[in-house]
Amino acid sequence: MCGIIGYIGNRDIIPILIEGLKRLEYRGYDSAGIAVLEKGRISLRRAEGKIALLEKLIKQKPVSGSAGLGHTRWATHGRPSEENAHPHRDCTGTIVIVHNGIVENYLELKEKLKKKGHRFRSETDTEIIAHLIEEQYCSGAAFRRTNSLEQAVRRALKEIRGSYALGIISSKEPGRIIAARSGSPLIIGLGKGENFIASDVPAILAHTRRIIYLNDGEFAVLTREGVDITKADGRKIIGKELDGRITAVAWKAGAAEKEGYRHFMLKEIHEQPRAIEDTIRGRISPDKAEVHLEELDLSTQKIKSIDRIIITACGTSWHAGLIGEYMLEDLVRIPVEVENAAEFRYRNPIIEKNTLVIAISQSGETADTLGAIREVREKNGTVVSICNVVGSTISRESDAVIYTHAGPEIGVASTKAFTTQLTVLYLLAIYMGKIRGFIRDAQARELIAELLKVPGIVKRMLGEEGKIIKLAEKFRKKTNFLYLGRGEGFPVALEGALKLKEVSYIHAEGYPAAEMKHGPIALIDKNMPAVVLALKGRRYDKILSNIEEIKARGGEVIALASEGDKELKKKADEVLYVPRTCVQLSPVLAVIPLQLLAYYIAVKRGCNPDQPRHLAKSVTVE
Ligand code: M6R
Repeated sequence: MCGIIGYIGNRDIIPILIEGLKRLEYRGYDSAGIAVLEKGRISLRRAEGKIALLEKLIKQKPVSGSAGLGHTRWATHGRPSEENAHPHRDCTGTIVIVHNGIVENYLELKEKLKKKGHRFRSETDTEIIAHLIEEQYCSGAAFRRTNSLEQAVRRALKEIRGSYALGIISSKEPGRIIAARSGSPLIIGLGKGENFIASDVPAILAHTRRIIYLNDGEFAVLTREGVDITKADGRKIIGKELDGRITAVAWKAGAAEKEGYRHFMLKEIHEQPRAIEDTIRGRISPDKAEVHLEELDLSTQKIKSIDRIIITACGTSWHAGLIGEYMLEDLVRIPVEVENAAEFRYRNPIIEKNTLVIAISQSGETADTLGAIREVREKNGTVVSICNVVGSTISRESDAVIYTHAGPEIGVASTKAFTTQLTVLYLLAIYMGKIRGFIRDAQARELIAELLKVPGIVKRMLGEEGKIIKLAEKFRKKTNFLYLGRGEGFPVALEGALKLKEVSYIHAEGYPAAEMKHGPIALIDKNMPAVVLALKGRRYDKILSNIEEIKARGGEVIALASEGDKELKKKADEVLYVPRTCVQLSPVLAVIPLQLLAYYIAVKRGCNPDQPRHLAKSVTVE
């Protein structure tokens, strides 16, 4: 979704804002803009389209200063255009704001403000906020009461229903940036003689790793010298409490760079061996029969008493949850349900004393997953989240967090987050399975030994991209794909289809292979290739029959086969071999060729897989 960066210090602000905005590109956007405090006034530069156009505009009409705001906009209210791009101004142009989120009562507020004489320049909900602040800041009575921007913002925010992360500056108080958060993520970066705000860590990673994550209802005033934070209850955070809020982000500055890869998506696919290794590191005992998940923070007694698990998530994280269901039911023998977070949160779900809810989210900011967590906690349920971003809202609002150590995932298409989520689910299943007595030491040792082989196997698979690049060339002009799988192969099929559609815009559907005869088989013809997950295992013979059915109807089959399977070569048109591992880990390996296939098809079709149209990296509004 939209991206925010703000800076106050002594350096030239333009490269800081532009580089910061570029680091936020992955969130998805359709226009960009900056506001700079310059000689007692605020200069705006905004452009529809890519940041390169904004840069061009700044070259044509230079601007300079050392305090200001930048924004990438992902349209919700009002089409993508220069007028609708942020920052937005009040009538006088003395107050300028950037905003992520949605003002739900904006029409009602707009009418009210129009009657008071305010004129609007855009179709956005955001512009209302600038005018509301103006109303509080500049109007006679209020101005006489206080001319503080801080007070004016506080009063204005009381009128807003909806979600916001806000950065605000005023030419009347050039030495400060106001920041506020409710429902949309916002962080503060602490520097020396300079401070930052941003919607996400990568925007400011090149300048500081000392981060404060604002909580909902919190309000901050940044100057060059320091930051003042006020809690929702009006209390100032000072001293040790403030120090305790500072997170040292461990990600290296280069982690948010492409490091020689053409796209972040490809870099992140290739980072999976390292990411999986990092996620395992420190969680396995030296004798390799124990998993350590102290961060789970649930007593042995509590784990023994759990009689139902609900996994909730969105998108790729939901697919990881669907695979987690197989792992947990196999290894822990507790019934598991997997729920799309957006559906779950509004269904008045039944959460009992012994229900454990596992929320999965790469970003830790997905609005629906967060909504689901809040719903569960309101019902006194226990939530453990699996999350990649340390300090994110979901991690803070859960009872416990198990972090994936994937490093920053910038590509909109989730890849390394998925395989590390599966790694955590697998570790969790062994951990709980042992506590509940379903897994003995010998089996744990075998399961862990298999997991330890995974990074090396993935590395080997990634070294064999050539075959996939050829396949991408062969299939790049197709307009429809089916992805079929059985058992844990079914969620992998869903994930393969999602990857292809989001980065290449080819229509693709994932189905349980058995469901074919209930409808989708009618689609099969020479123009509808089917990617079939046909790894050796319990359901192998059945999937072979499905392949025969497709071939008999003139369809083309790309099969994912277990290494050494000669039979499939005779039946399928194309075969991609997947090394053997245990059934629970097979999705981690099977998804690798599907990620690569989606990536290369997208690139060969001329699509930019890092910034797919209409998509945002983290969906922070409903
Ligand atoms: O940050 P989250 O894991 O909560 O995000 C969930 C989905 O928005 C995300 O997985 C999305 O589906 C990706 N674009 C998939 O590649």
